Amino acid sequence: MDRWRTIIEPFRIHAVEPIRLTSRAERLRAIEAADWNLFNLHADDVVIDLLTDSGTGAMSRDQWAAIQHGDESYAGSPSWYVFLEAVQELFPFRHVIPTHQGRAAEKILFSVIAGPGKIVPNNTHFDTTRANVEFTGAEAVDLVIPEGRQPALEHPFKGNMDVAALERLLAERAADVPVVFVTVTNNSGGGQPVSLENLRAVRAVCDRYGVPLFLDACRFAENAWFIKTREPGQAERAIPDIVREMASLADGMTMSAKKDGLANIGGWLAMNDDGLAERCRNLLILTEGFPTYGGLAGRDLEAIAQGLREVVEEDYLRYRIRSTAYLGEALDAVGVPVVKPFGGHAVYIDARALLPHIPPLEYPGQALAVALYVEGGIRGCEIGTVMFGRRPDGSEAPAPMDLVRLAIPRRTYTQSHVDYVIEVVRWVAERASELRGYRILEPQPPQLRHFTARFQPLA
Ligand code: F0G
Repeated sequence: MDRWRTIIEPFRIHAVEPIRLTSRAERLRAIEAADWNLFNLHADDVVIDLLTDSGTGAMSRDQWAAIQHGDESYAGSPSWYVFLEAVQELFPFRHVIPTHQGRAAEKILFSVIAGPGKIVPNNTHFDTTRANVEFTGAEAVDLVIPEGRQPALEHPFKGNMDVAALERLLAERAADVPVVFVTVTNNSGGGQPVSLENLRAVRAVCDRYGVPLFLDACRFAENAWFIKTREPGQAERAIPDIVREMASLADGMTMSAKKDGLANIGGWLAMNDDGLAERCRNLLILTEGFPTYGGLAGRDLEAIAQGLREVVEEDYLRYRIRSTAYLGEALDAVGVPVVKPFGGHAVYIDARALLPHIPPLEYPGQALAVALYVEGGIRGCEIGTVMFGRRPDGSEAPAPMDLVRLAIPRRTYTQSHVDYVIEVVRWVAERASELRGYRILEPQPPQLRHFTARFQPLA
């Protein structure tokens, strides 16, 4: 394939799902009935669903075949051993604790190790991670490098942790820090990768202060691909080998298999510490299930195991990262402000830059996301002041950035779907000055308000 420029989808379509094509008038009625919150829509009213890349990908023939091998024994299912082996092949942690999705792993871990007076640093907490830290009474701090907060700035590893800032925090408060987290790739910061060099430096600081390091590894394979293609000296390495080095630098991980597990549901918590594992397993049994299935059916464990084998294939990753960049480059070329470089799983539009007439507390990201839906039936996700603007004490402040994320489900949409998205975004961007902001109706939900908030368009 070497001489051809076009990177094709490395699969054929095996089962099709119809898309219901809707009119603008229908969509306007639907979003009004949904209180202008895209999470409240009936998904049949969405044409191209870029709300998330989580659990929305297409499974392969071999994953569906693996599902037929699912063994539903309550304890000691053969499917559990298949899953365990596939996880430990990439992440050789001593203890693997299956959960129904990533946030269940977070909930268990932070219930055990966080709590009032504690502080958890991360390059950038994802929303559920932050919420699970804060729910215990602990503080969640984001320590991404300063470049990671500037949407238009090019940097190969914009997800990197600010090692000096981490060092300052630990010098002062190491005793209150139960764990340091690094999210790969850094979802809330634009799907940006973290380099091996940075992970090694974070590890060294953690070692100096005796604090464990965990990965939030949802998009580990995409991160490994960026390491292979961007980090000096890594180009010749196999992806699984890079993943194992990432794992070797950490003491444990949380994982959502709905991303780079290529599955529709699932996750896990893993670690080397025996005592911590025991305390986590005790909680697991309360809320998720017996330790050999967690919150999952045997067939889910099989689908994840097969997904983990497929996600590290280079043909897949080359296509995956290239197809995301294709969308980003096209939007950039027509003057839509986008976070650069393009992330692995999503393109992030800088709504604050596109809609300078809408102040952050009138939610420019929400305004753009709603417009993309009304005009083209495209459902993106606000990652900005709606998601992160409310503090635990109920006060409100602008988030560092107001972005709209167009997340690409894995192996699901084709290039013509993406060409349509480009056409719609361009059309909306050309009329950006006509968009108006929103306000959030009271009462607001205390946590994760973006999921259920009700909005009202401002006149
Ligand atoms: N960590 C990161 C970095 C994530 O992106 C997510 C989910 C989670 C943890 C939680 O995992 O959904 O399985 O409970 N992100 C999805 C998204 C929801 O749309 O970015 P989960």
